[in-house]
Order: sequence, then structure tokens, then C-alpha cells
Amino acid sequence: MKFNSPQQAFESVYGRPPVAVIQSPGRINLIGEHVDYLDGLVMPVAIDRHVHMAVSPGNGHTCRVWSALSGGEPVEISMDKLEPRPDSWLNYIIGVLALLRDRGTRLPTFDAVITSDLPTGAGLSSSAALETATALCMEALTGEEMTPVNRARLCQQAEHDFAGVPCGIMDQLAVGAGKAGHALQIDCRDLYMQLVPIPDDMAILVTDTRVKHSLGDGEYRKRREDCEKASDILGVDSLRDAALALVESGRDRLGDQLFRRARHAVSEIERVRQFNKALESSDTATIGKLMLASHQSLRNDFNVSCDELDILVEAAYDFGPERGLFGSRMTGGGFGGSTISLVRRDAAEELKQHLQSAFRKHFKHEVNPFITQAVDGAKIIEA
Ligand code: GLA
Repeated sequence: MKFNSPQQAFESVYGRPPVAVIQSPGRINLIGEHVDYLDGLVMPVAIDRHVHMAVSPGNGHTCRVWSALSGGEPVEISMDKLEPRPDSWLNYIIGVLALLRDRGTRLPTFDAVITSDLPTGAGLSSSAALETATALCMEALTGEEMTPVNRARLCQQAEHDFAGVPCGIMDQLAVGAGKAGHALQIDCRDLYMQLVPIPDDMAILVTDTRVKHSLGDGEYRKRREDCEKASDILGVDSLRDAALALVESGRDRLGDQLFRRARHAVSEIERVRQFNKALESSDTATIGKLMLASHQSLRNDFNVSCDELDILVEAAYDFGPERGLFGSRMTGGGFGGSTISLVRRDAAEELKQHLQSAFRKHFKHEVNPFITQAVDGAKIIEA
């Protein structure tokens, strides 16, 4: 069933209006990949693709959640049984509820409806958007507000405990604290956040490869473990504290794989610093070089890219700066998911077609790149 708004969907499912509607965006990351869990620097952007959650207090002993993606009858969640369910998207909701309960929040039962134009499994943080929306729903119903940082921490914990992904905090903070027209540089050590304006003539083109290679989740954990082993060997608390010279000097002790993991992390954090300056001064040549170097490091040293991502990035650079390309790279955790391309606004449509036809030459399915922009983080839009 197609609805024009989350309000309308709520009324149709439950026969009464919602008391609050939450709007929670996805995110892309401009640069700083696989370094948030290493106390590193990252530069995500909340994007204008959203999860919406409409909510009202419930009537019975169980909560009901209806998602436009699955359709059918609403699923039930009992507040007495907030436990992980095997392979279920409901874990993002249940996880947040369980952690709020553990903090001492008295949780009311509720009815909720979820609608979304944010692709799932595309590396655009639909899970963080859903977690954050759930937390804001409960804040709307209980009146107990959290700061964006505390909310992000709770949602990150839900992802660890209920979805089994040992993620960093970038996604949840980007979704919760993004600002329209800006990238958000986050120092993941002290969570200091700096807003960096995105130039008006710079469009962000997102291309979802529509593949998710199954190695995904287990490999994410392995990368994190590799980095922890590397920092132990190098004698630093985290790779944030290592300089490239230290990594080079430890090459023999690290062995090839840990050396490459550490080299990615340390060089990527430095690239974020340089990217921040380049963005501030609209130095698009440097932006292009840094994004390419980031992609190559993720592919060759961190081994989290895949053919579909590589072909898209290669095609973007073939399009070239003379036709308006500023830079391109994979975004998010990798093993599939999306690329981003920064492109002169008036050239975005042409780049889109170029990427589609390049992809078609190599793969059997189509991609459908979309232009997006930086928006505000998650909020209650109707109460
Ligand atoms: C996923 C995780 C984030 C981050 C990225 C890679 O999106 O959820 O915490 O580690 O991968 O940068």
C-alpha cells in the first residue's frame, strides 16, 4: 500500500491519528572510513532520505509496529520480553527499548508506523536512522529528552548488543546531529563536532550498487580486531595515536596484513584533516585526490571494497574534473553498499548517466544514482 505521509499510514493502520511523527535521515560519509572505532576523525553528512516513524500511546500490554516495507499486519513487541530476534530488523527497535528500560525509563506501550525512502542495506545507515527514530519516539511519549550525544551512544549500544555489529559512533551521531548545508566533522575520541559548509555548487551523487556481499558483518568485526592487534604491537592506545613513521618502523613486527590495516587507518585520519581544509577553501583538485586515495586505501590496504564499487569510482574519475567531477569514493562499511561522487551541480545529471552506462557494461543489474543534499539530523516534526 502506498501512503502520502506517515500520518496517513498511521491513521489507516490504527484508525486514529499519531501523537508524534519523527523524521530521521540517512547519512553518507565524505571521508574518514573505518576510523570511527579507532578514535579517528570522520566527516559524515545527514542526507535528505529519511525513515519516518509515527507513534501514539498503545491501548494494550504489547506494542505494535507496522512497516510499509513489510506490509501485512503490525508486529507485536512485548515490553516484558525485549530480547533479540534472529535476523530481524525489529532488533534495532527492541535494542533501543531494552537499553532505555535498563536506564530506568518507564516505557509506555505504543503503536507505531514506519515509512521510509532511505534504501536499506545500501551503506546509508538505515539501521541508525531507525534506532534514532525509536529513541525520539520514546522521548516524545515520555517527555524524557536525551542529548544528541547520549542518544547516539545508546543507539550505538543497541547495534552492538542486539544487531551484533561492533560499529563505531559515526552513523548514529551523523543521523542525530547533522546540519543542513554542512558536513559534520566528528572527532571520535572526544566527540567534538565541527560543522563544515558544503559549497553551493557541489552536488552529492549517491550510487547504491544494490549488492551486499555476505562477508560483510563478520569481516567488519575482523577489521576492528586487526586494528586493535596492530595498536597493541605498536604500543599505542589506539591507531589515532600512531604516526605513519611508527607504522612503517613496525612493519616487520606487524606482518603484511596488520601493517596494511594500520597504514589505512593512520593515513585516512590524516586525509580527513586535509579534506576539511580543502572543503573550506573549495580546493576541488585536492578533494579529488584525497577521495581517490581514500578509496584506494580501503580497497588495497583495508580490503573492504568490491568490483561494483571499484567500477563506479573508476567511471567517475574517467568522467573527470574537466566535465565537473570533484571526487568519488565508496562510502560506509563497504563489501557492497554505495559510492558517493561530488560533482559540479550542473554536471550531476550527466555524471549519473555516465555511471549508469559504465555499470551496465560490467554487471547484469542497473543502478539508479540519486542527487542528495545535507539536511538536519533527526527530529520530531509533529507533536
Ligand atoms: C559502518 C559502521 C560505522 C563505521 C563505518 C565505516 O557504517 O556502522 O560505525 O565504522 O561502517 O566507516
